[in-house]
Amino acid sequence: MSGETDTDTKEKEKQELLERSNAVATTTNKRRRDEDVTSASATATDSIDKKDDVKVSKNQIKRHAKWVRKMEVNKRRKDQEKSIKIAKAKAAGRDIAAEQEYMEKGRKDGSGWAKRNEKWLERFEKSSSKHQIYLDCSFEESMTYSEINSLATQIRYCYADNKKAKNPVKVTCSRLSGETLNHLKNIMGFDQWSHRAFFHTDKDIIETNNDKSKLIYLTGDSENILTKFEDDKIYIIGGIVDRSRLKRVTIDRAQKCGIKTAKLPIDDYLHLSSGKALTSNHVFEILLKYQENGGDWKKALLDVLPKKKEAIAIEKTTKILI
Ligand SMILES: C[S@@+](CC[C@H](N)C(=O)[O-])C[C@H]1O[C@@H](n2cnc3c(N)ncnc32)[C@H](O)[C@@H]1O
Repeated sequence: MSGETDTDTKEKEKQELLERSNAVATTTNKRRRDEDVTSASATATDSIDKKDDVKVSKNQIKRHAKWVRKMEVNKRRKDQEKSIKIAKAKAAGRDIAAEQEYMEKGRKDGSGWAKRNEKWLERFEKSSSKHQIYLDCSFEESMTYSEINSLATQIRYCYADNKKAKNPVKVTCSRLSGETLNHLKNIMGFDQWSHRAFFHTDKDIIETNNDKSKLIYLTGDSENILTKFEDDKIYIIGGIVDRSRLKRVTIDRAQKCGIKTAKLPIDDYLHLSSGKALTSNHVFEILLKYQENGGDWKKALLDVLPKKKEAIAIEKTTKILI
């Protein structure tokens, strides 16, 4: 007789799963080169480690292992794409070795980064987006650990989208602290985001801004419809992931603070079969696309909304303007 109880067996199984999952993560870590993948994976592994101190469920471990496998597939796909690109460049007569040497030199002496920085700043100066966007991270206390993790990922998407946008906008994460900030700090290069007009502060934009008439809180619960941007206005997006648990939290906050609200003109252009509450990064991306395509909401919405939302274009109706 082994004398092993059900609890012992379960504990063993759990431990095995965790070890297997971490083994995959370790192999992946060794092979990773892509900065973003490195940081994303570090955040996830970290989250499992931290959870482990508290309580890790079998499902969490399985999900983590699945995520790590997905990262590996993505990495292989990226490597393949890179090989194809190099083959095409070689076929076009480019000296790839010399180009790589030049890039490496630039990376070492900082001139490559400085040049890219200069170019980006030029694009930012010329950008048609003169308004500002704030991601209001005031809701951490109401979110679960995994929701906070998702929020950090969404903020990272916002940064990446703004960085490559045709018309980048000045972005600030306000009231950013605690676990959300910790997650972001794990991302390689986070301390450089301010070079791409992406800032953060632990201060509250609503409390610290003296002219409340300049603030517009974007929320799906508003009666008003956003039709265009005004240069001197600050548009606030709720930095919140709540899986539809926390009803009306952003509109309540905006109304309590006495600031204007507006929602995206979704009803004017689309029928969404799965609700109109969008993620913070989708809202942000829609705003960028609108600026990029010269003010076409329908196109911006259709470009960004995921297939999951089953967006169907409809005819325009009357709007309440803001
Ligand atoms: C996941 S939603 C948060 C939903 C949350 N229950 C609330 O009360 O706002 C994240 C943020 O995206 C923005 N958002 C989502 N859908 C929107 C819409 N249809 N129009 C404008 N902003 C929207 C809001 O700023 C919102 O706080």
